[in-house]
Amino acid sequence: MSTIENQNKVKQLIDLRAKARLGGGQKRIDTQHAKGKFTARERIEMLLDEGSFEEMDMFVTHRCNNFGMEKESYLGDGVVVGHGTIDGRMVCVFAQDFTVFGGSLSETMSLKICKVMDLAMKLGAPIIGINDSGGARIQEGSNALAGYSEIFERNILASGVVPQISLIFGPCAGGAVYSPALTDFIMMTEQNSYMFITGPKVVKSVTGEDVTVDELGGANMHSRKSGVAHFKSASEAECLALTRRLVSFIPQNNVEDAPLIECNDPINRLEDSLNSLVPENPNKPYDMKEIISAIVDNGDYLEVQALYAQNIICCFARFNGVSTGIIANQPKFLAGVLDCDSSRKAARFVRFCDAFNIPILTLVDVPGFLPGTGQEYSGIITHGAKLMFAYGEATVPKVTVTIRKSYGGAHIVMSCKQLRGDFNYAWPNAEIAVMGASGAIEVLEGKNIAAIADAEEKKQFIFDKETEYKEKFANPYQAASLGYIDDVIEPRNTRFRVIRAFQALQTKKISNPMKKHDNIPL
Ligand code: HXC
Repeated sequence: MSTIENQNKVKQLIDLRAKARLGGGQKRIDTQHAKGKFTARERIEMLLDEGSFEEMDMFVTHRCNNFGMEKESYLGDGVVVGHGTIDGRMVCVFAQDFTVFGGSLSETMSLKICKVMDLAMKLGAPIIGINDSGGARIQEGSNALAGYSEIFERNILASGVVPQISLIFGPCAGGAVYSPALTDFIMMTEQNSYMFITGPKVVKSVTGEDVTVDELGGANMHSRKSGVAHFKSASEAECLALTRRLVSFIPQNNVEDAPLIECNDPINRLEDSLNSLVPENPNKPYDMKEIISAIVDNGDYLEVQALYAQNIICCFARFNGVSTGIIANQPKFLAGVLDCDSSRKAARFVRFCDAFNIPILTLVDVPGFLPGTGQEYSGIITHGAKLMFAYGEATVPKVTVTIRKSYGGAHIVMSCKQLRGDFNYAWPNAEIAVMGASGAIEVLEGKNIAAIADAEEKKQFIFDKETEYKEKFANPYQAASLGYIDDVIEPRNTRFRVIRAFQALQTKKISNPMKKHDNIPL
C-alpha cells in the first residue's frame, strides 16, 4: 500500500472517531448543555483518571429498519462504553448518550452494555453505569425489552461479585429503573435526575393524583422518602467526584480487600471529650456522629443514605487506613429506635460490607423497636429480621461498642455476641437489659403499684424499685460478668481499642454452612 493510501486510511479512522464523538450531533449536544447536563463522554472524562479511558464499540450502529430508522443511524449508537481507572484502579463504565434517540435502549446498545459488564466480571472490576435515557427504544419493540432483560440478568449475577454503581443523570423510567435498582448504590443529582415506574401523566390518569416529576421521582424524594437513592448531589460534577470517593472505600471485587490508605492519624489518639459526651440522663439525645468523627481516621467518613431513616447511620470510614463499614444508632432521631426503614437500610449496608470483605463496626444506643400499628402493619417483624439475618450471616470481622442503651430484641439485632460478634465492648454508661427501668417496673410491679393508694408512697415505691432495677441492669457489668461483653472500655480509648480489635481479626476465617443460597426474609 502506498504511503498516501495509508494516510487516507488513518484519516478515515480519525474522521470516523470524530464523527462518533459527536454522538447525535452538535445541535443535540448544545441542547444537552442548555439543560445543564454534560454529554456521556464528558461525564466519563470527569469520572475517570485523566486520559485513562479506553472506549470500546465506537463503531457499533443500530440494526433497526422500522419507522425509517435505516435512514438515521449514529456511530456508537446511544451508549459510550469502555474501561479506565479511578485513582489508578480499573473500573468498567457505560454512559447512555441522550443525544442519540434520547439515550433510548436499542438491541445493539444492550449488547454494548452487556459486553462491558462481562468485561467487568472477567477483570474483577467495579462497573459504573451512567443513566440518561428515554427508556426502551420504541422503534425496536421487543428487541429493546430483551436487551433490558439481558442487562438485568447480568446485574443479578454480578451482585456480590463486583461492586455496581448507578448514576442517574437524566430520565430513568419504567422498567429501565430496574438495572440501577439491582445495583449496590444509586446516586442522583438535584436537577434533571428522576426515576419512576410510571410518569406523572400515567399517575394522573390512573389515580387522579397531580404530581410533578420531581415530587414523583426526583433526588429529594428518593433520598428522603423511598430510600431508593443512596447519595444525592447538587450537580453532576459533584456526583462524579463523590463516585470517585465512594470507590476509594470499596474493593475491586469479592475476593479482594478495599485499598489500604496510609494513615497519618495516631492509632492511640485519646479523645478525652468522649468521656463526657453522653448525657447522664438516658433520655437525653446526643449526636452519634460526634463519636464517629472522633474515632475514625482524620474524622473522615462517607455516609450512605444520609437523609433516609436518620435514626440509623451507615457510613464508610477508615481505621488505621483500613476501610470499615460503620452502623450506628442515632439518638438524635427518634431516640435511635429501630423501625422498618432503619432496619432495611442497615441490613442492606451490612450485606454490602460482608459481600465485599469490609469489616463492620457497630455503635449501639438503641431503646428498642418502634411500637405501634404503623410499624406492625408495615412488617417490622420481617424488616427487623432482615437486619438480624444480615448480621448473623456476616463473616467479616465484627466489632460492637455499646455506647448507652441496648434493650431487648434490638440488643440482639445490633450485632450482639451471639450473632457471632467478634469483640463486643461497652462504655461504662451502657445499659444492657431486656427493657428500660420504668417499663420493666410497670410490668413486674404493676399490681403492687396499683394497690398503693397514697400518691407519695406510690412514687417512692416506684423510685425504689426502679433504682434497684437500674443498679442491677443499667450498667454493662451484668452482661460483662456473663461474658456477653468482652470488656468495658474507657470512652476516650475507643479508637485505639477498635483498631486493636480489627488488627487482631485480620486473620479471621469463618464460613457458613454449604447451601445454594440463604432465604433472607425479604
Ligand atoms: C426512541 C426516543 C425515546 C424512546 C426519546 N426519544 N425517548 N426515541 N425511543 N423511548 C427521542 C425523541 O424522539 C427525541 O428525538 C430525542 O429522543 C429527545 O427526546 P425529547 O422528547 O426531545 O427530549 P425531552 O423533551 O428531554 O424528553 C425526554 C423524555 C421524552 C421525557 C424521556 O423523550 C419521553 O417521554 N420519551 C418517551 C419515554 C417512554 O415512554 N419510553 C418508553 C418507556 S417504556 P429527536 O430526533 O427529536 O432528537 C420502557 C419499557 C422498558 O422503557 C421495560 C424494561 C423492562
